[in-house]
Amino acid sequence: MKRLDFIKILLVLSACLPFAAVAEEAEVKKSFQADEPCTVNVSDNLAHVVWYTSSDSAGYVKVSSSEDDNFKKPVSFYDSNSGIKNIGKFHSVRIEGLKPDTKYSYMVYSVEVGKDGNGRLVSGQKLASLEPREFSTTGPKERESLTLYMINDQHEHGDRVEHLLKNSNGVDFIVYNGDMVNNMRSADQMRECCYLPASRVTKLPIHYIRGNHETRGRYAGEFLRISPCEAGRTFYSFRYGKVFFVVLDVGEDKCDSDEEYFGMANFDEFRSSQAKWLESVCESPEFKNADARVIICHVPVDIRDGSWHGQLHFYKQLAPVVNGKGFDIFLAGHYHRNLLVPPSPKGFDMPIVINGDKEGLRVKFTGKNIEVESVDMNGDFIKVDYKADRFPKRKK
Ligand SMILES: [Fe+2]
Repeated sequence: MKRLDFIKILLVLSACLPFAAVAEEAEVKKSFQADEPCTVNVSDNLAHVVWYTSSDSAGYVKVSSSEDDNFKKPVSFYDSNSGIKNIGKFHSVRIEGLKPDTKYSYMVYSVEVGKDGNGRLVSGQKLASLEPREFSTTGPKERESLTLYMINDQHEHGDRVEHLLKNSNGVDFIVYNGDMVNNMRSADQMRECCYLPASRVTKLPIHYIRGNHETRGRYAGEFLRISPCEAGRTFYSFRYGKVFFVVLDVGEDKCDSDEEYFGMANFDEFRSSQAKWLESVCESPEFKNADARVIICHVPVDIRDGSWHGQLHFYKQLAPVVNGKGFDIFLAGHYHRNLLVPPSPKGFDMPIVINGDKEGLRVKFTGKNIEVESVDMNGDFIKVDYKADRFPKRKK
């Protein structure tokens, strides 16, 4: 090859390189996907938005409201920690300063990241912006009725989560009452098992409550990033109109010293601290003035023969605090079948309604009246009879 021809080829190749880089970048952008977001643990003044992207990105949410002067112009909230933006495929944004009982709309943005010599660098270029979504804060405003829809013990069956959530039409919010996975291993796993199925079929806010299986696995310490809440811990309370909810967390069901926990468990102390906290909650005017008072907890604190250490220990802590305070119902899972534990002088003075793993539980509050229905995989529903210890099944 003549020297001149060789230089010509080099010139042509180098001229093509920027186009190749641009084409590659465009291809990356084309393949960039963002899941629909989920709204998590919405309370009086606070909401959380979580979503996933197909590759690493930064993220933020723009919030506006015609009902709140502070949000007449959109306000941005970033996925960040102490001033530093988080980079990853999972995004979790806390939206603060909201008004109770107010409707907000929001847009979700994911931003591409590049690398500089010192590490990661946010480029600021928008890659994905999803359709506007809405949520409403909770608060004291009285409602004609309030309905929640609870599923639990799905143990990584994301397809079943999606199927069961299709029966949540007409409710106000969703409860994941624990054991949605076998153990917590990664953000990707939590996407597949919990949030992707929800993002496909519902726009309702979710309260994701920790079960004993979410205390296991190398990612278990990240539960509050996956399910962020105002209290910043896995037990808390919230009100929705005149219904007062207490979320409790048994932790593990076996003794802290059990070999299965490899010396990592400290749940006796954790349960005792919840009982102490609950004492003051029961003294609050919001609790005392509520029409209905509800405990939601993955493990039923059921102290019949065969109950495990976590249940027996928690019962001893809770019974003096809870009994006589006017709680109406305890919503639980864990047993993988429908069961009703009636009120008992030897247990709690409220029924424990236990939802199975192949059913969704609809709980409707109208004034002081509570109606409970269990919907199975076929869409058949089951009316709960408090006098029976198994749910009698009937066709829809
Ligand atoms: Fe469980």
